Amino acid sequence: MSQADRQRWEQRYADPADSLKKTGPHSVLARHAPSCQPGCRALELACGLGRDALWLAEQGWRVEALDISLTALIQARAEMVRRKLSGVHFVVADLDHFPLPRHEYDLVYVFRFLDRRLFPAIAERVRPGGLVIYETLNIHWLKSHPDTRPDHMLQLGELPGYFPGWTVIESSDGGVMSTFVGRRP
Ligand SMILES: C[S@@+](CC[C@H](N)C(=O)[O-])C[C@H]1O[C@@H](n2cnc3c(N)ncnc32)[C@H](O)[C@@H]1O
Repeated sequence: MSQADRQRWEQRYADPADSLKKTGPHSVLARHAPSCQPGCRALELACGLGRDALWLAEQGWRVEALDISLTALIQARAEMVRRKLSGVHFVVADLDHFPLPRHEYDLVYVFRFLDRRLFPAIAERVRPGGLVIYETLNIHWLKSHPDTRPDHMLQLGELPGYFPGWTVIESSDGGVMSTFVGRRP
């Protein structure tokens, strides 16, 4: 990621009025997150303000949550402390270069972020029987936002192709978002 991109995210998170400041989990996570068994662990890429990681921590999960924006993660950590939680390990990481942690997770999830080079590592980090939950913008977004970089948008039906042989629990291209929930065999 260029320095300019990083700065753009830092500025957005420094703006108290920015639309990224939503709370509560994405609905697909709330629908499909398994109940936490002892020792359950999750990995989130591009966690932003940690709305999903904090929700999982409230359900007992330990979460490693990565994002490039220090400004976002400072706010996420402050919110964790405010809620008297401790289950999220927030890590400043540029996913252009940062290798994913070498653990197997019960759940790996990503919202509103796309770097196709990461799909093999994402699939590897899910333990057999574990879940991936992925939701991000697809090419329909370009109709209303033609200036967006097309490589940041999914083609319709693209996500399941990164998880061959997995059990598809949910897969859709509704509106501007594509969603995939799959279980590793
Ligand atoms: C649209 S926001 C989504 C945040 C969060 N997943 C959510 O849905 O609320 C995209 C996130 O990707 C992060 N990001 C962008 N490029 C990144 C990179 N190269 N490495 C790590 N994080 C990155 C940004 O800092 C931002 O938090």
